[in-house]
Amino acid sequence: MKRVLFLGLLAIAWIALIGAAGAQAGVLEGSPPQTALFNDARLLALATPFLMALAIIVGIVQARAAARGLGGDALLGDRVRRHDTGSIIAHWMNAFGMVACLVTGALLLRWHERVIDLRTTFIVHFLGAGLILFAVTNHLARHGVSGGVGLIPKSFRALRDLIGELFEYLGVFGPEGAVLRIPWPKGLRQPVGRYVRGLLGFKPHDSGKYLATEQFLSYPPWAILIGTILVTGLIKLAKYVYPIPLNWVSTATYIHDLATLAIGIMLVIHMLPLLLVPANWPLLMSIFRTTVPRKYVEQRHPRWYKALLKRQPVPVEAPAAGAQPATAAATDAASAD
Ligand code: HEM
Ligand code: HEM
Repeated sequence: MKRVLFLGLLAIAWIALIGAAGAQAGVLEGSPPQTALFNDARLLALATPFLMALAIIVGIVQARAAARGLGGDALLGDRVRRHDTGSIIAHWMNAFGMVACLVTGALLLRWHERVIDLRTTFIVHFLGAGLILFAVTNHLARHGVSGGVGLIPKSFRALRDLIGELFEYLGVFGPEGAVLRIPWPKGLRQPVGRYVRGLLGFKPHDSGKYLATEQFLSYPPWAILIGTILVTGLIKLAKYVYPIPLNWVSTATYIHDLATLAIGIMLVIHMLPLLLVPANWPLLMSIFRTTVPRKYVEQRHPRWYKALLKRQPVPVEAPAAGAQPATAAATDAASAD
């Protein structure tokens, strides 16, 4: 409750501050000249607090719904729900926004000859920025309230699993978990595999819900990079409503541009294991259709599977011999056999 209150107050304070600045008439001292570009950027700056407030409200509603058991991870017959619809929408808002900003950013930096006029380039950049802003605020509000931390590594075991999974991608534990199912000769891979298992105590195909590679090499770098591009973007936007010092803006611009390069590289790092490792293809599909096959969870994410089974409601004892248990869980378990 305290967290909800805190987020709510933050949103209101932000709206009040920007509203007060926006209400000032005319050009602020130290602001750039009023052109069409100026007005477009100012519009996004003024819309920002409202976008964020809306994303916070939606996030709180989603967290409340999740607390009531709506849309979370669940066994659904021969499939398992891995992501709820809200997370999928937030992922794709973020991804579309990022790609739009990346492409327009590359054009603005003249990494590629400009193919559209400058104003359209900025409008697309600002639309992308709006999507990112909404998706990230929504993600933070939702998980801030619900306390969801599944993608943050919590133990030493996760580090060991990370090294093990990287060896798995190299094909050391057989072609099933390898990049493009590379079939290394057994004589070559088995001694290395035994050594890695012995040294790390690593057990292949024994993952929890999230792979250790996601917990270390995807989520934290994304969090840092998205945080950086967002904060620097907000500083750059702030100059359209506040007369902020020029050196702040030029430092933010410098970091914003460096982060552009890093985000381009990170997008490739994010997509390669999903596209090149056939064992991860069910995960790839899950970001479009929310679920993964139950068999896949049993085989590659057994620790998550165990947790899912534990969370199933205990079937009510049937009153007479031969009668069916009354819960959905029992129906579900039966359909999976
Ligand atoms: C993947 C995400 C993003 C990338 C790659 C990116 C990249 C860029 C690049 C290369 C420029 C042109 C050079 C410069 O002025 O720095 C730029 C400008 C700008 N970006 Fe981003 N950006 C991203 C996201 C954002 C976000 C989320 C915001 C706002 C919250 C934002 C706000 C701005 C602003 C205000 C400008 C400058 C407009 C001006 O004053 O001329 N950007 N961005
Ligand atoms: C710049 C754009 C993108 C960003 C910022 C982004 C960010 C994220 C983040 C933070 C996650 C949470 C888990 C993790 O970190 O691995 C995730 C999951 C995922 N992303 Fe992306 N993503 C982007 C683009 C894409 C694209 C283009 C694809 C596929 C073609 C994709 C496929 C996936 C899949 C399949 C998952 C779920 C993996 C699972 O179920 O464990 N992402 N993404």
